Amino acid sequence: ATTIYDENYRGQYHFSPEKGWMNDPNGLVYKDSMYHLFYQYYPNATVWGPMHWGHATTKNFKKWEHKPIALYPDDLGFIFSGSAVVDVENTSGFGKDGKAPLVAIFTHHNMKIEKEGGPVYQYQSLAYSLDEGETWTKYEGNPILVDEKNKDFRDPKVFWHKETKSWIMVLVAGDHAKLYRSKNLKKWDNISDFGLEQGAHGGVWECPDLFKLKVKDNDEEKWVMLISIGSGGPNGGSATQYFVGDFDGTTFTSEQKVHRWLDWGTDNYAGVTYNDAPKNERVFIGWMSNWQYALKTPTGNWRSAMTLPRKLGLEKKDNKYYLTSSPLKEFLELKSMADGLSFDLKKGEQETLDMPGVGQSVLQFKMEKKDLKFALTNAAGERATMLFDSASKLFIFDRTQSGNHGFNYEFGNKLHYMPVDDLPDTFEVTIYVDRSSWEVFINDGQFVFTQQLFPSEEWSGVLLENLSGNQNQIKGLKMAAIPSIWS
Ligand code: FRU
Repeated sequence: ATTIYDENYRGQYHFSPEKGWMNDPNGLVYKDSMYHLFYQYYPNATVWGPMHWGHATTKNFKKWEHKPIALYPDDLGFIFSGSAVVDVENTSGFGKDGKAPLVAIFTHHNMKIEKEGGPVYQYQSLAYSLDEGETWTKYEGNPILVDEKNKDFRDPKVFWHKETKSWIMVLVAGDHAKLYRSKNLKKWDNISDFGLEQGAHGGVWECPDLFKLKVKDNDEEKWVMLISIGSGGPNGGSATQYFVGDFDGTTFTSEQKVHRWLDWGTDNYAGVTYNDAPKNERVFIGWMSNWQYALKTPTGNWRSAMTLPRKLGLEKKDNKYYLTSSPLKEFLELKSMADGLSFDLKKGEQETLDMPGVGQSVLQFKMEKKDLKFALTNAAGERATMLFDSASKLFIFDRTQSGNHGFNYEFGNKLHYMPVDDLPDTFEVTIYVDRSSWEVFINDGQFVFTQQLFPSEEWSGVLLENLSGNQNQIKGLKMAAIPSIWS
């Protein structure tokens, strides 16, 4: 039987642990028609603690199933972030009777050595499963990768590189990424480093990813590296940057000197993509929180949710490459949306709409590149506001009046900004609202903003206000309810 998780603030179509603390998504891998999600997990409290890997599975992201804890801390340390691969050719030798093992590559973090001031307390280890991630065996040769020089040395992402028939690992060492190669997942050679002189360094580098993407409307393929930083994000605290470049099997290079953000919101961190997803798609999931206040958010006996699964894409404009992201189509049930409403708002005019159910829905409309205020509203008089300012080319988000924010000063003390340099004259806005979050996608995922919100009553209406000096048209406003992933 499935339990229905229906508590206050419990996202109904976003994954969250049934109880306890969750942070980063780990070991995202698709195997035998199943998407696996492992995650940084502390089951015994709603704050960070001795890290485990929690586990859940889904066939299509519309229903999730909680699984037994996959990895428990041991003598070598806590189980920090990492990845998982299907070792189809049994290069590791962990397979048995023709069964391809699922292999997890993760960081062991040794608290004892860290407290004693020892220089080496993060190292990489392996575990494998022969029963679809239900039970795991840790490799007796752990740790498999130690580095005397770097005390921050973690979050290995491993993938199979067809061209060189080898495993490639990217991990982070404080202020840069390191790449390794292996034939058997056990023995690794450092082949290159990246990033000392590039990108944002407002916090140590964490949770890297590296993958190839086809550029939209052209034959080009480029490689993308994701790097998260715990502080120094565009709107404070944690955020994820990306680099677009090339990977020749040994070295990753990128022309890009200045960082770019995958998401401008405060609540999308440590995200990585699935290995082996169908149709060669790049499916991304992030942790929908921020280290600034993650330990304080006012949820019940669980803490944190994941972002919606998003498909990543690449676009080229003026010789620059941009990463785009949009939720997997499964969630955009436009067919069930009623005919869109359209509004012609005169200067200063407002429209308030009763929209029961908006608190668990997807909203979509077309807007002009003119000043507009959009807000979610509720019976308690609270609002979450998004304002487009055409002169400064900014989307400005305001959650200072959005309900409960007294749990942490940083959470509700300021406006948040998303610069949108090159939007067309009219463009589409798609907003996923789920009780304690909203995810805003502008112009098909060209610009993305993800945020947690804690209204004291569910969102039940929408406010539109024309702030431009002219008439302003909002076209085809639609809303569709999104069913729960738990029922
Ligand atoms: C990112 C992170 C990782 C680390 C994990 C520990 O949020 O700090 O670098 O492996 O969390 O839980």
